[in-house]
Amino acid sequence: MSLLLEACALSHVYADGSIGLDGCSLAVRPGSRNALLGSNGSGKTTLLQHFNALLRPTGGAVRFSGQPLDYGRSGLNALRRQVGLVFQNPDRQLFSASVTEDVSFGPLNLGLDEAAVRTRVAEALAAVGMSELADKPVHHLSFGQKKRVCIAGVLAMQPDVLLLDEPMAGLDAAMQVELQSLLDALAARGITIVLSTHDVDFAYRWADDIHLLAAGCCLASFAAADLTQHAGALAAAGQPLPAMAQLHRALATRGLLDEDGDSPPRSLDALLARLNT
Ligand SMILES: Nc1ncnc2c1ncn2[C@@H]1O[C@H](COP(=O)(O)OP(=O)(O)O)[C@@H](O)[C@H]1O
Ligand SMILES: [Mg+2]
Repeated sequence: MSLLLEACALSHVYADGSIGLDGCSLAVRPGSRNALLGSNGSGKTTLLQHFNALLRPTGGAVRFSGQPLDYGRSGLNALRRQVGLVFQNPDRQLFSASVTEDVSFGPLNLGLDEAAVRTRVAEALAAVGMSELADKPVHHLSFGQKKRVCIAGVLAMQPDVLLLDEPMAGLDAAMQVELQSLLDALAARGITIVLSTHDVDFAYRWADDIHLLAAGCCLASFAAADLTQHAGALAAAGQPLPAMAQLHRALATRGLLDEDGDSPPRSLDALLARLNT
């Protein structure tokens, strides 16, 4: 199968000499949901910023659709239409007075006419459930609403790939559920999603593919369904087994459910469905 985004022995040394990435290699399949899973400082943000060319490698390469990134002006414009990044902190991304202005910025820069921009903005705001707040000043929004406006701003560019840096961080439980269903809806539309997280439980229940990052390196990439086969790499990356996998193991040990060789359930409902009753 063809690969959409690849980090090939990617290294990045920051101006102060800090090592952001250190020979990181991983690949993202088109249409897949990917979690970059790693503890603080493992290189997640640095990697995401390479994927849309905000940062350039000091070693190795990033490839998109099989081609090395073109860092010339037209190459960057083309890339940023196709690969959108949502920052961890919305205040670093939002800069216009109103929600509509902010979400319009990207499409206006594409040179689209006013009607086309209006349509894109309306669609993007509807996708994130923010249509009602279109005229609100950005600085009056809650953190979760700002986050959604940031996502709308990227969606208005109609990207093939959506990159999100720690999208769940700082959201309350209800907003996390909402954001997860938004991500599910976008994935169902065929958008490839790559997000960073330090939450193994979230990565396990949400992702198709998990890429384990530690010290600027990708220790392992695997299907989330196969996670328990990678306990060693998880431990090396400082990650516990997901609670659902631990619970499954404990119940199986006590004979309360069959260890039938399948991978452990990834949701509570799936686990309950397997209980011996
Ligand atoms: N702007 C920067 N200048 C210097 N070092 C940085 C900068 N950003 C990140 N780093 C360093 O690069 C490494 C990876 O950081 P980062 O990509 O932010 O990790 P993560 O997002 O997984 O927490 C860390 O050691 C961090 O201190
Ligand atoms: Mg980070």
